Amino acid sequence: MRFDDISIESTRITFWGPRTALEVRNPLPGVLRLRHAPALSHSAPAHRELLPKQSWSVVEHAGLPLSLRREQEGAVAVVVAEGLSLEVTLATGAWRLRDGSGRELGRCESFSSEVMPDYPVTRFRSRLSLHTPRDEAWLGFGEKVGTLDKRGMHFTFWNTDVVPHHPDTDPLYQSIPFSIGLREGVAWGVFLDESWRMEADVAAEDPSILCWESAGPELDTYVIAGPMPADVVRRYTALTGRMPLPPLWSLGAQQSRWGYENAREIRSVLQGYRAHKIPLDVVYLDIDYMEGYKVWTWDRTRYPDPAGLAREAAAQGVRLVTIIDPGVKQEPGYRVYDEALANDYLVRNDRGSVLVGEVWPKPAVFPDFTREEVRAWWGQQHRTFLDVGISGFWNDMNEPACFKVINGDETFGVIGTRSVDKGRVEGPTLPHDARHGDKRHLEVHNVYALGMARGAYEGLRTIAPERRPFLLTRAGSPGIQRYSAVWTGDNSSYWAHLELSISMLLGLGLSGVSFVGSDVPGFLGRPTGEMLVRWTQAGVFYPLFRNHSAKGTPYKEPWRFGEPYLSIAREWFERRYRLMPTLYSLMHESSQEGLPALRPLVMYAPGDVEALRMDDAFFFGRDLLVAPVARQGRTHRHVYLPEGRWLPFFNLGQSGGEVIEGRQHVLAEAPLDTVPMWLRAGGALALTEPALHTTTANWAHLTWHIHAAPRVEARLYEDAGEGYGASRLTRLSGTWADGRFVLERTTEGALPPARETETLCVYALSEPREVLGAREHRFVDGVLLLEVEAGWTRLEVKL
Ligand code: GLC
Repeated sequence: MRFDDISIESTRITFWGPRTALEVRNPLPGVLRLRHAPALSHSAPAHRELLPKQSWSVVEHAGLPLSLRREQEGAVAVVVAEGLSLEVTLATGAWRLRDGSGRELGRCESFSSEVMPDYPVTRFRSRLSLHTPRDEAWLGFGEKVGTLDKRGMHFTFWNTDVVPHHPDTDPLYQSIPFSIGLREGVAWGVFLDESWRMEADVAAEDPSILCWESAGPELDTYVIAGPMPADVVRRYTALTGRMPLPPLWSLGAQQSRWGYENAREIRSVLQGYRAHKIPLDVVYLDIDYMEGYKVWTWDRTRYPDPAGLAREAAAQGVRLVTIIDPGVKQEPGYRVYDEALANDYLVRNDRGSVLVGEVWPKPAVFPDFTREEVRAWWGQQHRTFLDVGISGFWNDMNEPACFKVINGDETFGVIGTRSVDKGRVEGPTLPHDARHGDKRHLEVHNVYALGMARGAYEGLRTIAPERRPFLLTRAGSPGIQRYSAVWTGDNSSYWAHLELSISMLLGLGLSGVSFVGSDVPGFLGRPTGEMLVRWTQAGVFYPLFRNHSAKGTPYKEPWRFGEPYLSIAREWFERRYRLMPTLYSLMHESSQEGLPALRPLVMYAPGDVEALRMDDAFFFGRDLLVAPVARQGRTHRHVYLPEGRWLPFFNLGQSGGEVIEGRQHVLAEAPLDTVPMWLRAGGALALTEPALHTTTANWAHLTWHIHAAPRVEARLYEDAGEGYGASRLTRLSGTWADGRFVLERTTEGALPPARETETLCVYALSEPREVLGAREHRFVDGVLLLEVEAGWTRLEVKL
């Protein structure tokens, strides 16, 4: 590979080789787009021209200026952007990325492509090989199994319906080819904006190479500067979009089961929750509500009056969410099928016939969500369900799953032509050569669910513009966070799956998807009461907190396990609702800055290898370190506390323990009712009172728990919890110096507070001599309790 020509424009610099190109752009500060085209004749019909390339994932950005300078007597060309530079060696095509201080972030050894011409699909093996020093950790990669650091693993990016899945199953349902390299405390990001089937070898084959491989002709790569992991995540989500703020109710407890037979059973679930005084906001209706698995229909024998059921649920503060599968039953006379066929909305096989397969509906056809008109039509389907009072939509089987392809091998291939790929299917899905307009399935398979979610989201925004959509999806690709929450599919009631859920959700969060959860207490299999409790304790911190189970397994609602499990589980549900002000503010932060609610310890200790290895504990936001127990029979657990000072805050209450210094391993007591947690010095947590369901995010009761330190910072976002009305953002900042602890509060936004007073619990101070600005104060067991006016602006504690 060599470059012999460079074209220079103000926002684009392109290196040209005989059959190669590398186009460099600077879409955002700290981000370079490196469009590698190693098989140029396939990317560009004309000489020295790269055709514009459609991105499914990246949101539009104006280009920032670039400049070029020559070094080493012209052998190296350096592209300079603000905060980043790229040194390209013209003789080899290799490049080196440096940050503003000149530090090398990453290095490309080579990129290349093998072309395998064939009918119907020409495949490529386009490769980008990045040098990776042995001490570089690799995080992210979306929804993947394994530890937080994925070094030594090999992944495939091909959305796949797998049931059951295991701790080493790959690929799963989501494909997000984004990763964060972390070395000596400095992070950088690599994002492959390719919808094609991809693989990543994370220094498994060669410990010094991270190799990305695409079945398409290009490697459209974004390299992203840190230096902190959070900076990379912010930039990656600026590129691919951030999650919208969800309705508050979707953060409440959710109950689901594949196998609730009818409306009567849904009512009994509602009654069960209320009779046992367990909070609940959502019940899901799985596939059995449909007539013969026909999407957008109701089985009237099972659900004679869906609107009445939705009203009954609403009267108890509960919303209904229906499952929506993309497979449309092929049945003339069924409206959805007739419309899709008449308008040519369906995926076709190579020969051009409508592609027929089998999913739950049998036979089934598949809307082509890669096309805008199909997405718009699909979006409008939600109207009738909104009209009966359905509040949210659960998009499943959208890899798309297809149990059997019926006419996938009908082809135009001339007899005698070599055609290895004819009708080839990988996993339970559609054939590689299936047609989506002018594209083939191999190219757009991974964005099928993104298109479906986008159609649903945009449809809901137009049908009910005053409401926030709630969507939950199984499959997805980069950008899915703009439309939908994600759950991790068909897990099992294994302790290993409980533990794995933590690193999986952390990986998703680092990959831009903050609103995530795993099925509690495992979809398949048979959990014990102990497992129900332990999984509920972890689930309380999942942004999406849903209990779900499979047909043929025991019922898994919290009261099915008897005592003491029910009472302990209830306490944890209540804690979920107490945490709501903090969780809601974290979701707001995700919508503004892209940072996930669940954050790995290493996010705030990027140079600390011990923190990197703690992938069974996490931060809930910035300040609360949570270490759930994910093993059977354990009454203690080991935790590594990173740098800082840590206040024991087990079970969301002070457990009486002393503040401890970080950078040490501790053994925490964790009997069945206990989750070890610590509050960071300088951090704060806003809690409210438990409730049976959510109502508003303008909290009537609020208690701040503040761990005093020389600098304190906290934020709280409040609004109605639904819609797009007035809001209020509160910021606390504190200083502690010369025997005075001062807290100041500022607010932005027009929403008036719903409370007259607030309580503050300040930890780590000594008994004060005087307190200014509070209505009342008490000092009990080392905690300063303050009762303040809701409109307070300044408090001063003299020590
Ligand atoms: C899939 C989903 C699961 C759902 C089932 C029936 O397996 O992952 O959550 O319950 O289909 O719809």
